[in-house]
Amino acid sequence: DKGDYRHYMLKEIYEQPQAITDTLAGKLADDHVFTSILGPDAEQQLHQIENIHIVACGTSYHAGLVARYWIEEQAGIACQVEVASEYRYRTVSVPANTLLVTISQSGETADTLAALRYAKKQNYLGTLAICNVAGSSLVREAGWRLLTQAGPEIGVASTKAFTTQLVALLWLTTALAQAKQRAPEIINANIRALRNLPGLVEQVLQLEPGIEQLAQSFASKHHALFLGRGPHYPVAMEGALKLKEISYIHAEAYAAGELKHGPLALVDEDMPVVSVAPSDSLLEKLKSNLEEVRARGGQLINFACERAGLETSEGVTHIDMPWVYDSVSPIVYTLPLQLLSYHVALVKGTDVDKPRNLAKSVTVE
Ligand code: F6R
Repeated sequence: DKGDYRHYMLKEIYEQPQAITDTLAGKLADDHVFTSILGPDAEQQLHQIENIHIVACGTSYHAGLVARYWIEEQAGIACQVEVASEYRYRTVSVPANTLLVTISQSGETADTLAALRYAKKQNYLGTLAICNVAGSSLVREAGWRLLTQAGPEIGVASTKAFTTQLVALLWLTTALAQAKQRAPEIINANIRALRNLPGLVEQVLQLEPGIEQLAQSFASKHHALFLGRGPHYPVAMEGALKLKEISYIHAEAYAAGELKHGPLALVDEDMPVVSVAPSDSLLEKLKSNLEEVRARGGQLINFACERAGLETSEGVTHIDMPWVYDSVSPIVYTLPLQLLSYHVALVKGTDVDKPRNLAKSVTVE
């Protein structure tokens, strides 16, 4: 039931504060996380992990790409991320003490399930499924399971499933950091950030009117570029995927530093460039990338914190984001991109909940 919402997608976007709260329920104490939810000896097994391989498809793959930045930085564990359709058909080299992590909303994606079955025949230390469906094949077949509590997701374009996957992955990162006895500040900061997250997401949802306005000028375009750096690069990838999926506008994401290695040639006044620009350590680098775009007449749309002090000038639109803790920033910055693609699709009149040629659950390869 869509309730008062025009589409399931919009309803699911607005369900995110609750979905995040539900996903975190019973997982956080004041100064540690409850690793026992994974199993009785989980903390000791987490301590042994030296490598992580993450395998997933589509939006769930993007969640894995964000997590790589967290896991390597905060837990000090080497992490690789791969799409399941590639992973399953190649010979994978598995170093000692590697955990395999699969991520899936449905738990029935054919390639992801095949990847897990393949992995179970390799010498992994263990397998973990992060999944939104408790009784799914993936959850049944994985060694460990970490359930997201997004509730049923009807819209084909994944929204609340993605942000709750990120929440589960930040929790996992915190659990690994704890098991590896990393600095307590890392753990405490993540717990604080996760606890504040539902309120912050609520706040960002109030930006919808400004984003709706922005969508008007976007809808006549044929191409768009999304730029980000660090963990906001996969957030930009997810923003581009959402836009192409439901509005059929061709969109691509680049790590902002790659701009001058090719895609800058595409930039002109007909090419909107969306930048995901939180106030983090990479902001200054990103700013100079954005100047390159402006110098070529590209229309810039910045999702940035007021404090970032990005310059306003003609051709530059800002959506002011609240200040956020670094670790949850990729989650928070996903929201305006969901709203942007939703409103662009509305202006274009496409079928938001059931985009052409796509199925909600891809159970064949
Ligand atoms: C995009 C989208 C897809 C899915 C992908 C994997 O909005 O929903 O890219 O993320 O098909 O599906 P799951 O997560 O069910 O394995």
